[in-house]
Amino acid sequence: MAPDQEHVRRQGPIRLSRKALRTAEPAISRLIEMALRHEGLISLAPGLVDEETLPVAETLAACHEVLADAHLGRRALQYGTTQGLPELRELLAAHLEQLDRTSGATQQYDPARIVVGTGSQQLLYLIAQTLLDPDDIVLTTAPDYFVYVATLESAGAELWGVPMDEHGVIPEALDELLRYLDRQGDLWRVKFLYCVSYYHNPTGVCTAAERRAAILETLERWSRYGPILLLEDAAYRELGEDDVPPAPSFVSYDDSNQRVILCQTFSKPFAPGLKCGYAYLPEDLVEPILREKSNHDFGSANLVQYLIATLLRSGAYHRQAALLRRQYSQKRRRLIGALERYCDEYQVTLRWTKPSGGLYVWLIAPPELDTRSAAGLFHRCVANGVLYVPGEYCFLGIRALQPDTPLGSARNTLRLAYGHCPTEQLEEGVRRLVASIAEELAHASSQQAHGSS
Ligand SMILES: Cc1ncc(COP(=O)(O)O)c(C=O)c1O
Repeated sequence: MAPDQEHVRRQGPIRLSRKALRTAEPAISRLIEMALRHEGLISLAPGLVDEETLPVAETLAACHEVLADAHLGRRALQYGTTQGLPELRELLAAHLEQLDRTSGATQQYDPARIVVGTGSQQLLYLIAQTLLDPDDIVLTTAPDYFVYVATLESAGAELWGVPMDEHGVIPEALDELLRYLDRQGDLWRVKFLYCVSYYHNPTGVCTAAERRAAILETLERWSRYGPILLLEDAAYRELGEDDVPPAPSFVSYDDSNQRVILCQTFSKPFAPGLKCGYAYLPEDLVEPILREKSNHDFGSANLVQYLIATLLRSGAYHRQAALLRRQYSQKRRRLIGALERYCDEYQVTLRWTKPSGGLYVWLIAPPELDTRSAAGLFHRCVANGVLYVPGEYCFLGIRALQPDTPLGSARNTLRLAYGHCPTEQLEEGVRRLVASIAEELAHASSQQAHGSS
């Protein structure tokens, strides 16, 4: 067969695969690197967790417990299974049942349908590899979590965004998009909807209980060419306010028991350094994912799985998650309080989401304020010593029926993260941001007055 000339031309000195050529450097990493070179910068950009509360003593105690017993220690230091430690999967099934119970649902979870991974990102990646061929369509939210968007693009998927509002994915907008794709003759290409359903990255919004059945029903109705699955990424599920229980998982709304994939992680509610996540899969997907994972690593770090099982059994995990919920709740209040105060002081009108959990607040500026990385505000903010994530990164690569959504557009939005930033810097970070916005708006209106005089 003759070589594809375009492919050959793009390869360069090393003959890279088509997939490698599709895999771009994350646009945001260069931006953050560049901005972090500025001394004294307060960064409200990265989605990292709080440093002060990382559970060193708890992890040390778990290490002692596993390694002080030579027999147990040897088992933990040996290779494990591809699917994950059976005792851990039993504990995870009980944990998922408990989380749903807190939200008022009685769902049973089968440990045989759980796969443990190296972070939930590995499982999300394996799911993309297992389900997608190039040119398949994935529905995402608009805006969405840019890391997974890049993973999906590298798998060759075409992405279409479903608008969200402050209650999450809008079922009617999902229906309208699927109708459009059907009219275009593309419905057969749609494989799944990806949804960060709790304290969404980047907006902080939860998909409301009242919408979950409608979303699944809409996917079911348009599953004419085969099931359109729902991939629920619940990375932030356990970081909500204790007195506002979020909805139960989409799994508990799925009567077929075959349509929902649920991914969770220990990175956010415990420690990302352990890099342990897990997926609850439809029964028929377990073997295909295990074959793919076997090619990848034939099992995630066994020692880490023993540690997590120990932490779950002793209750140390639950105490830590509760501590983080309190810590993030306090930081979120500080951040939102500062937004209210400084918008008042600088006479700036902005809108923002009011999450009851997670690590992010999403800000929607007036349409005349351009928040993108090439525009004046971003550079002014860096010069004034504060960094945010421009909303444009959360829309990048996602096609949409309309560029505007109820939560703004790629031009006038930004993400603020309060996980990593020390509490005492949050106030000043917000002050610098709002002051920069006020300066930028004043600059734009003086330019306009200049232009019209
Ligand atoms: C929405 C979402 N999903 C998944 C992940 C991946 O986390 P990990 O691989 O550490 O479990 C992240 C990390 O920030 C995230 O924000």
